[in-house]
Amino acid sequence: MRAYVVHAHPEPRSFTAAMRDTIVAALRERGDEVSVADLYEIGFNPVLSRADFLDPQNPEALAYTAEQRAGYAGRTLAPDILAQAEAVLAADLLVLTFPVYWFSMPAMLKGWIDRVLLSGPMYSGRHMYAKGGLRGRRALVAASLGGRDHMFGEAALHGDLERGMLSHLLRGTLGVVGYDVVAPFWAYHAPYVDQAERERMLARLRRYVLDLERAPLLDMPDLASFDERFRPITGTP
Ligand SMILES: Cc1cc2nc3c(=O)[nH]c(=O)nc-3n(C[C@H](O)[C@H](O)[C@H](O)COP(=O)(O)O)c2cc1C
Repeated sequence: MRAYVVHAHPEPRSFTAAMRDTIVAALRERGDEVSVADLYEIGFNPVLSRADFLDPQNPEALAYTAEQRAGYAGRTLAPDILAQAEAVLAADLLVLTFPVYWFSMPAMLKGWIDRVLLSGPMYSGRHMYAKGGLRGRRALVAASLGGRDHMFGEAALHGDLERGMLSHLLRGTLGVVGYDVVAPFWAYHAPYVDQAERERMLARLRRYVLDLERAPLLDMPDLASFDERFRPITGTP
């Protein structure tokens, strides 16, 4: 299996970087072929702009997703986008490692998503979820948090991580483009726990990745409940 690990943390000695290294080592132990993009290290440009298109179809009134489709088909996307998109398309497993910032992800990773997950090869108005361009592949999120585990959940202070706080990533992004989204790995209270607890978390992460086939998948909308224009089928005429 081919895995692509996209990492977004500004500090190479961070716990989140240790999570990334643990995942890479466990995947290699399984015999997977792994490549890594450390977005800060490569100085990835996270700002979506018109410069993303070398030969825009409609420069007077740029329509970003239409330009993505034309740019991918004509190979006229900016080279950094094209290289990342090809790496994503070549991988059976996408792994994202990052710290949770403000109920979300670092802007660096958000910008990678905005620029690299392309309308056309990865999704379209008619191809989402089980019909998305990346269907048949899996995605794993492994994120660190400052909060403690009891702060997250349906009745908890910050609400549920999967169905609430990070649903924009898990469902609205990874699910939409078609991935089978594995239940994420959360490293709670990461900056505050002692070395022994960090090692326990990394050991748990290693076991999780070694046994990834058995990890549960997050629920996604069932396309059978929607018509060809994605209107809900209510059962009433
Ligand atoms: C800008 C910023 C925003 C943050 N927002 C959150 C948050 O919404 N929820 C949370 O639990 N932790 C939050 N944190 C804490 C980080 O998630 C935590 O410091 C990080 O996961 C630690 O990872 P590290 O030990 O690898 O640096 C935030 C930290 C920063 C710098």
